Amino acid sequence: MTTSREQVAPCYDYLVPKVIAPGKFITFEGLDGCGKTTQIERLATVLRGGGIEVLTAREPGGTEIGERIRAVLLDSRTAGLDPWAEMALMFASRAQQTAQVIGPALKSGKWVLCDRFTDSTEAYQGGGRLLGSEPVLELHRVLCHGLWPDLTILMDSDVSHSVQKARRRNRIASLTEAPDENRFERESRAFFTRVHEAYLKIAEREPQRVVVIDARPPAEAVHPEIVRAVRERLMAENVSARTQSQLSPKGV
Ligand code: TYD
Repeated sequence: MTTSREQVAPCYDYLVPKVIAPGKFITFEGLDGCGKTTQIERLATVLRGGGIEVLTAREPGGTEIGERIRAVLLDSRTAGLDPWAEMALMFASRAQQTAQVIGPALKSGKWVLCDRFTDSTEAYQGGGRLLGSEPVLELHRVLCHGLWPDLTILMDSDVSHSVQKARRRNRIASLTEAPDENRFERESRAFFTRVHEAYLKIAEREPQRVVVIDARPPAEAVHPEIVRAVRERLMAENVSARTQSQLSPKGV
């Protein structure tokens, strides 16, 4: 006999590893301004060159509904947003994108490269906003059905770099009076220090999933490190010889 909950439960069969969900899920994490976007584009180019179908995504956002949630979350005119409401909105966007985009893509065999995922919520809301890790992990379990990345690239950069970038953007925004796109970049050094520490704790807790890459060198030097991590962690089985050679050190 099934319970009514079971009867209405949708089928999240992309959660079943390998056989049903042959795609790979890679997330990029780090402080604002650490260079994730550039590295995602570069890795996508390499993977596509090796014949892999790649989908890139970002959070918050990535769906029509998610982009509307993103606009509310990042607009610096959004005042008085309670930290718990902020976390709920991050998960609302993620739940939509997981169900509508990421899950189906993985199920169809695509590799998904996502700019931020639940580690961002654990670092920014759990660490930065002091809400703690436990509610984040619990919401992830319920709302994202426990879908975790196969690999997370944590791009480790200096807090001061992030704060500087934030100040620069705020100065430009105040000169132009245009709404800036990142409410988080108004945060203090103490906030970003907590975010940074929370990220490092996640990496320490889950070394099998999270690889820490030094993001301070120029982008050209960071890229081969990321390719190496992908090759070592994900390319051992199940990938064509062409892709293997594309990802070999000389192919970088
Ligand atoms: P974005 O402009 O995409 O910044 P970046 O290019 O650095 O990723 O803004 C996303 C902001 O949202 C960023 O400051 C981090 C924050 N954020 C959270 O606080 N919690 C989350 O769960 C996510 C996904 C992002």
